[in-house]
Amino acid sequence: MTIQGLTVALSKGRIMDQTLDLLREAGLPVPQDIETSRKLILPSMGGEIEFILAKPVDVPTYVEYGVADLGVVGKDVLVEAGRDLYELLDLNIGRCKMSVAGLPEKPAHYAMPRVASKYPRIATEYFRGRGQQVEVIFLNGSVELAPLIGLAERIVDVVETGRTLKENGLVVQEDIMDISTRLVANRMSFRLKSQAIDEFVRLLRPVVKKEE
Ligand code: PRP
Ligand code: MG
Repeated sequence: MTIQGLTVALSKGRIMDQTLDLLREAGLPVPQDIETSRKLILPSMGGEIEFILAKPVDVPTYVEYGVADLGVVGKDVLVEAGRDLYELLDLNIGRCKMSVAGLPEKPAHYAMPRVASKYPRIATEYFRGRGQQVEVIFLNGSVELAPLIGLAERIVDVVETGRTLKENGLVVQEDIMDISTRLVANRMSFRLKSQAIDEFVRLLRPVVKKEE
């Protein structure tokens, strides 16, 4: 069995170190200079795998278009992207929750409450599912600012340690879903490169920790 010929898109940033730890523990050929290099495409020493370093939000795009066979990305990004991919493995890293948060005191009742989020799709679906009409305002980050300066009453965002909320005087009001990092595959690659992908998963599965 061989992992020859796979292109794997990794998410830069927060989950990168833990992702590389897992891949190395699995015995996968991770390039030594991947942490220090500024290169965005890094082939493994033996040329078996090509790693692509992408912005997390772009990983589902690379995988859906098949320019990467596999991707490592958070469930938050996957659900928000809504792309047609196979989810192969829960890597059980980058664990956090998608939650609704706001100021502890109940704000005045608005006809159309505003919700700020980096995840407009998740926020819209969540409130629609509960029959609540809200206006969702997209922000690129630091969404905790929104309730503090009166842009929105609530936010939908990921909460990991809860520190950002706490230090900004916000509280969790409702939990929407559990989040963790997933291994995903392009649908066509999954059929055409099934042996290599099976081998990749077979190596990775035993090193996935049950609980963090
Ligand atoms: C993320 C997230 C929360 C925070 C959660 O923000 O959007 O703000 O981390 O972590 P905590 O519960 O441990 O504080 P990030 O720092 O990635 O920046 P961004 O929101 O500006 O993208
Ligand atoms: Mg943030």
